[in-house]
Amino acid sequence: MTEIGPIPFNRPAPVGNELTYLRNAVESGHMSAGGPFTERASSLLALETHAFEVLLTTSCTDALEMSALLLDLQPGDTVIVPSFTFVTSALAFVRAGAQIIFADIEPLTLGIDPAHVAELMDESVRAVVAVHYAGVGCDLEGLQAVLADWDGVALIEDNAHGLFGSYRGSPLGSFGRFSTLSFHETKNITCGEGGALLINDPADIERAHILYHKGTNRRSFMLGEVDKYSWQDVGSSFGLSDVLAAILLGQLEQREPIMRGRQELFDRYLSLLEPHAGRLGFALPVVPHDRAQAYHMLYTLLPDQPTRDRVLAELRSQGVGATFHYVPLHSSAGGRKFAKRQTECPVTEDVAGRLLRLPFHLSLSPDDAERITTALINALGR
Ligand SMILES: Cc1ncc(COP(=O)(O)O)c(C=O)c1O
Repeated sequence: MTEIGPIPFNRPAPVGNELTYLRNAVESGHMSAGGPFTERASSLLALETHAFEVLLTTSCTDALEMSALLLDLQPGDTVIVPSFTFVTSALAFVRAGAQIIFADIEPLTLGIDPAHVAELMDESVRAVVAVHYAGVGCDLEGLQAVLADWDGVALIEDNAHGLFGSYRGSPLGSFGRFSTLSFHETKNITCGEGGALLINDPADIERAHILYHKGTNRRSFMLGEVDKYSWQDVGSSFGLSDVLAAILLGQLEQREPIMRGRQELFDRYLSLLEPHAGRLGFALPVVPHDRAQAYHMLYTLLPDQPTRDRVLAELRSQGVGATFHYVPLHSSAGGRKFAKRQTECPVTEDVAGRLLRLPFHLSLSPDDAERITTALINALGR
């Protein structure tokens, strides 16, 4: 067995002015939300994503919760969510009173399956959540075609993985009524914990600011439109501290080298793994020609779950921080509790059992990638 040093699954690293900006934010005296770094980071994001408004939040989960509140869900309302996603893609809507209908994913992109969504649609559905798994756009045209038959059903993009990816030339995150981003430390661009709500319909902006400002019209007050501010609506404390926005801006300014580095790593993994895929029976990510991916991760689909579990254990015993991913939501305890009805998601179950993610971060050298893939190939060949 080849012994290799510990290689973590993820390692966030400052690449630009993060530490300088952090110091500036602390010294400036404006550490709460809504400061100068927030302004610069959200303007940059609005430009890149084509959003009308970008609100920085403490997490993607918070941005999803804002979307749920903005939908004004009523008792009996449901939201369709892929079963193969993170818990809070569904939980955010449950907290706002909805029941969930879980949809299956497509086997190639691992994005929500529009054909299954079409089968699941009924009068109770208020929104469909699309996740661009691994930063590869899901079938947005297919989803739009389904939703065209259902007036008033919102598309919400949980774009935690896909910042700077695109679908037919338009940025991921620009298709939904709302889209959400994550800047958690596992994401391409990070400030430790953070997120953003992208608002793509100007009609939502005014109420979004009230929810964002803890249910008050504080923004109107700040703009001089009213002489005092007061409680207006539901809401919460969603705003990201300007200290974290400073780190975020430092990262965002380096988006080109970050994305280039991730692309190089992805391509290197692919060139090392592709020649062995047929012989060893594993599959690599597929990016349809009309999409540009965001290079969020490198996953493989191994032949079956026992092989995946065995290979994962072997890699870990050799210090390679490989890992699995989402446990299907539709069959989890929470999923069963909050689902409107049980649905079948066979592709999700199959993929969740076979998927293995390899370490993917900018601290990995080309040699590391070679050592990791050699360990994977050897483990699969045994
Ligand atoms: C698809 C998806 N949505 C939402 C989240 C939650 O992000 P955050 O940790 O920023 O709340 C994650 C976390 O990894 C995710 O993978």
